[in-house]
Amino acid sequence: MQVTYYGHSSFLVQTQGKKLLFDPFISPNELAGSIDIDAIHPDFILLSHGHQDHVADVERIYKASEALIISSFEVVSWFGEKGLENYHPMNHGGEWQFDFGKLKMVNAIHSSSMPDGSYGGNPGGFVISNDEGTFYYAGDTALSIDMKLIADEFDIDFAFLPIGSNFTMGIADASRAAEFVNTKKVIGMHYDTFPYIKIDHTTAVETFKKKGQELMLMGIGETINI
Ligand code: NI
Ligand code: MN
Repeated sequence: MQVTYYGHSSFLVQTQGKKLLFDPFISPNELAGSIDIDAIHPDFILLSHGHQDHVADVERIYKASEALIISSFEVVSWFGEKGLENYHPMNHGGEWQFDFGKLKMVNAIHSSSMPDGSYGGNPGGFVISNDEGTFYYAGDTALSIDMKLIADEFDIDFAFLPIGSNFTMGIADASRAAEFVNTKKVIGMHYDTFPYIKIDHTTAVETFKKKGQELMLMGIGETINI
């Protein structure tokens, strides 16, 4: 799989010949000024919840791509009313076989409202598996014992975990979350974008290293094969 970082919690995962874009918050993010949003052209837009810092660029990217929006029933319905009608509604515990692989929507401990304040359902995360591998995209969440259920069911190769604290788990809890889902490979997200979530990179990487885990802090615009 190929992973490209667009800053904050936004990533493009390329797998099975498809482009999956997660939580696009690019144009309002000063750190992501180098990203050409209109060139992304995903096949799917996956949204963990309705907060502005996860959905800001959905309309713009959808208009250029007509990508299928995958999120909670409430989030996709809100976009549907704005005319973004190519969507797939889900809810926690549900699975669906897409042409990029099997996706399960899993729990997250957070909140969710749409940018205009309307109800955004409950926040979630995603586990995606195909013959190239299996990964967990946690969305915004606290550490939760429910993450152990993911390890029971899946063999997680790597996980996207929030590490910025204040609004989500911080570094120490994210390291425990990696233990809970039983993976050694973590791609950090939801850090440095705002003053509340600025972190010390060395401390973060060392915290994971002490437990035999690898924390990847990708550069914005960087692409890795994983
Ligand atoms: Ni949020
Ligand atoms: Mn957030």
